[in-house]
Amino acid sequence: AIDSTGPAHCLGPDYRPEEQKPTATVSTEIKYNNVHILPQTAQLIALLTADFIFYSNRIIRLLVEEGLNHLPTIERTVTTPVGRSYAGVQFQGKICGVSIMRAGEAMEQGLRDCCRSVRIGKILIQRDEDTCKPKLFYDKLPDDIADRWVLLLDPMFATGGSATMAVDVLKSRGVPEDRILFLNLIASPEGVTSFAKRFPKLRVVTAFVDQGLDAKNYIVPGLGDFGDRFYTL
Ligand code: PRP
Ligand code: URA
Repeated sequence: AIDSTGPAHCLGPDYRPEEQKPTATVSTEIKYNNVHILPQTAQLIALLTADFIFYSNRIIRLLVEEGLNHLPTIERTVTTPVGRSYAGVQFQGKICGVSIMRAGEAMEQGLRDCCRSVRIGKILIQRDEDTCKPKLFYDKLPDDIADRWVLLLDPMFATGGSATMAVDVLKSRGVPEDRILFLNLIASPEGVTSFAKRFPKLRVVTAFVDQGLDAKNYIVPGLGDFGDRFYTL
C-alpha cells in the first residue's frame, strides 16, 4: 500500500533524530471517530510493504489484538504469587468471529490464536466482477449471536458493499450495531467514510486507509485481489 503520492511521514521512535528516520506513505486520515486506524509505526509500514501471506498474518494479529481493546471490561482484583493484590480487569461478555468468505476466512486463525475456542460464523458474499455489487449466497451464524459481541472479519474494504451487506445480515439476526467490531486490513477512504456514516455506532479497526479506488473499484495502490493472493496464487 505504498505510493509516493500519499501522505508522507517520518517513521521511527521519538528519540531518533528526524534525519535518521525514513519517510514512507502512511494511512489517509479519516475524520470519523468510530474508525480506528492502527498506529502507523515502522513495523506496520514494513509489514505493509512486504510480500505477502506471512506478513498479512502478522498484520491480522495486530488488528485482532487492537480489536480486543475495544471490548468492554470490568474490574477484577487478583492475588499475585507473592501474596499482594493487583487491581486489574477482565473481559465482560461473550464474543464470536464472523468472516466474510472467502478472504475474511484468512483472518480466522489470527482470532483463534488470541481467543481460544472462539465461535466463528460465516457469511458468503461475493462481489460481482462486472457490477462490483455484492451478492449474498449463504450464512451460518451461532444461534445465540444476538447475545455476543461480533468481530466481523474482512481484509479488503473497497466500495464497502460487501461489509454493509454483512452488517445488515448481522442486524437482521438481532446483533446491535454497537456490538459489532469490523476488523480490516486495507480500506478505501470513500468506502470507510460512507460505512462510518451509515453505521455510526459500529467500530472499524483498520491497519491502513489507502488512497482510493480505480476504475474497477479495486483499492489503489492496494494489493490486488486478497483472496486470490492468499489462497490460489
Ligand atoms: C473481496 C473482499 C471483500 C470485497 C471488498 O471479496 O474480500 O469481501 O471484495 O469489496 P467491496 O468493499 O467493494 O464490496 P470478493 O467478493 O472478491 O471475494 P473473495 O473474498 O472470494 O476474494
Ligand atoms: N477485493 C480485493 O481483494 N481487493 C480489492 O482491491 C477490492 C476488492
